Formats: sequence, C-alpha cells, structure tokens
Amino acid sequence: MEQTEQKKVIFSGIQPSGELTLGNYLGALKNWVKLQDQYDCYYCIVDMHAITVKQEPKDLRRRTLEVLSIYIAAGIDPEKNTLFIQSHVPAHAEAAWLLNCNTYMGELSRMTQFKDKSQRYGNNISAGLFNYPVLMVADILLYQADLVPVGVDQKQHLELTRDVAERFNNTYSETFKIPEPYIPEAGAKIMDLQEPTKKMSKSSDNPNSYILIMDPPEVIRKKVSRAVTDSLGVVKYNDEQPGVKNLMTILSVIKGKTIQEIEKEYEGQGYAQFKKDVAEAIVGELEPIQKKVKDLVANKEYLESIYKKGAEKASYVANKTLRKMQKKIGFIPVSR
Ligand code: TYM
Repeated sequence: MEQTEQKKVIFSGIQPSGELTLGNYLGALKNWVKLQDQYDCYYCIVDMHAITVKQEPKDLRRRTLEVLSIYIAAGIDPEKNTLFIQSHVPAHAEAAWLLNCNTYMGELSRMTQFKDKSQRYGNNISAGLFNYPVLMVADILLYQADLVPVGVDQKQHLELTRDVAERFNNTYSETFKIPEPYIPEAGAKIMDLQEPTKKMSKSSDNPNSYILIMDPPEVIRKKVSRAVTDSLGVVKYNDEQPGVKNLMTILSVIKGKTIQEIEKEYEGQGYAQFKKDVAEAIVGELEPIQKKVKDLVANKEYLESIYKKGAEKASYVANKTLRKMQKKIGFIPVSR
C-alpha cells in the first residue's frame, strides 16, 4: 500500500470572499502547513461558499487565484497536498443537496454565523447563506476526513457535520467517517484590533480593525500602533485587557514564545516597545509570503497546473463517496 493511503485525511478551506486576514493565517493556514507531513491533506478554495453573499465576478476570480497563491506561499507543498477550487468538483454541490434533505431547518436556524451575517445583510439574505453549513458538511464528508483544522468560529459547523453524518449513517448504514475538529490552543480566535472583544474579520468596515496577509509592512506597523489597548500600561494576559491579550497571543503564536515569557520580557515597560515588537513579528512572518504571492499570481500557467491536478484527484475521491451516498439513498446507478 502507498504511504498516503495509510495516512489520516484532513480537509479544510478558506472562502475567497474578501482579502485574507492575519486571523485566517494564524487560526487556519499556519496549522495546515504544520499538519501536511502527517496527513493526507485536501485544502480547498471554497468559491461556492463565497457566493452566499454578493461578489463582484472579477474580484472573485482574482481572489480565488490569490488565495491559492497564498496557500502555496505560506508553505503548503502542492506536490504533497491536494489543492483545488471547490467549483471544479461538482460532487460538492450534488452531495450538499442530498445532505440538505437530511438536515433540519431548526438545526440551520441555530447557526450563530448565519444569525450574525443575516443581521448584517438585512433583507437581502440568500437561501444559500442559510444552507451554507450543509455545503460545508458535504465538503468534509466527501473526503471521509478524520480531522478538520479550523478557527473557533467554525466549531458549531463542525458539530453540525458530525450530527448530519451520524444521522445519515443511522438512516442508511455506515457511510461517512465522523470527523474531529482541530482547533489550535493559541490563535484560534484572533480579535479585532479596534474592538478586541470581537473576532478579526475580513468583512469589517474599518480597515484598522484587521491586518491583511497582503498588507504592506508600513500599513501593518501603522495598524498595530493604532490597535486599541487600555490605560493600565502593563503587558499582562487577562480578560480586563482584551486588546493587550490579543497582541500577546499574536506575538506568542508567531514567535513560539509562551505567554509567561512575554509577560516577563515586558515587565515594567509600557506598550510602545511591545507594540513595535508585535508589528515586527507580523512583518517578519508575512513579508516573505507576500513576495512569493506576487510571483505566483503572475504565473497563471503554474497555478492552472496545480488546480487542474488538484481537481482531478479531489473529484476521484469525492465521486466515490457521492456514488455510495446515491446508492444508499435509493437512486438507480448508471454505468459510466
Ligand atoms: P472562513 O473563510 O471564514 O475562514 C477560514 C479559516 O480561518 C479561520 N478564521 C480565524 N481564525 C482565528 N481568528 C480569526 N479571527 C479567524 N477568522 C477566520 C476560520 O475559522 C477558518 O478556519 N465555512 C468556512 C470555510 C469552509 C470550510 C469547509 C472549513 C468551507 N468548507 C470545510 C473547513 C472545512 C469559512 O467560512 O471560513
């Protein structure tokens, strides 16, 4: 048996619905890179998720290829992993329909991300936004994933995935592996720099509240220097100082230092040097990635070769599971 066949499977994805943030990087991408040697990884650019809210077609096209470039530039080896674009594998949409018929409206109504987003978009909420978690269930189950590395905000969708998988298995006999979430201990919820009790999000209206993976160094420095802290003036990790706590988390995850080490290092100092060091840590981490992304996005042929190969491999695996689902549900098979 080949080595990859024995490895456990990972599936994860990022929406190309906005520019990627430091939250996406520390909560998801950085961990994907760490996991790629031990697991058989499928890393997807989930463009079908992105259209649950309005997208400008040319921006969606540009961002989809940029996200693929960011995956590679961040250190995900396209030779070792399967990198692909969700809409290239129609089995995702087909499986999502079958699973929609095995998911309750009540379950979807309880999804906090839907509640938040539907508040933001008011009267223009698409049915896709409501059903979106089922597409995510399909993404994961089609690959019989063991592990799904995500940030904290996706935990509820993972619980839904497990519930729907178990229900399907109970109704139609064993079909899906039940996946586990992989949520990092630190960095699973990077907070907004202006309102540090809220998650850092690419959809925020205030650009000072997030750092983008592609923000130039001088912009990163400015945003960190403007990050909201407090008047206590001590670098301490506690809930009364959410802004400082967030910056400490960022520094700790990037530099691999413990919170205690950071507290000690800045004992008796205010925030000036601390903030400078946080900014330099982020710049040091992101600048090499940005340089690679710029080269990669210019190389459309190379990117095409990666996503074509990825779609072929992903389709093979996804179609196998889809056929199994169709058969169990009672659809008539047709030889292909
Ligand atoms: P998305 O595109 O919103 O975010 C991608 C990943 O980044 C994580 N993340 C964060 N982590 C820490 N701090 C933050 N501030 C932060 N913001 C975002 C998210 O938790 C996520 O891991 N529905 C998913 C995409 C998806 C998916 C899947 C994920 C579709 N199908 C299947 C895993 C498996 C989403 O909207 O993520």
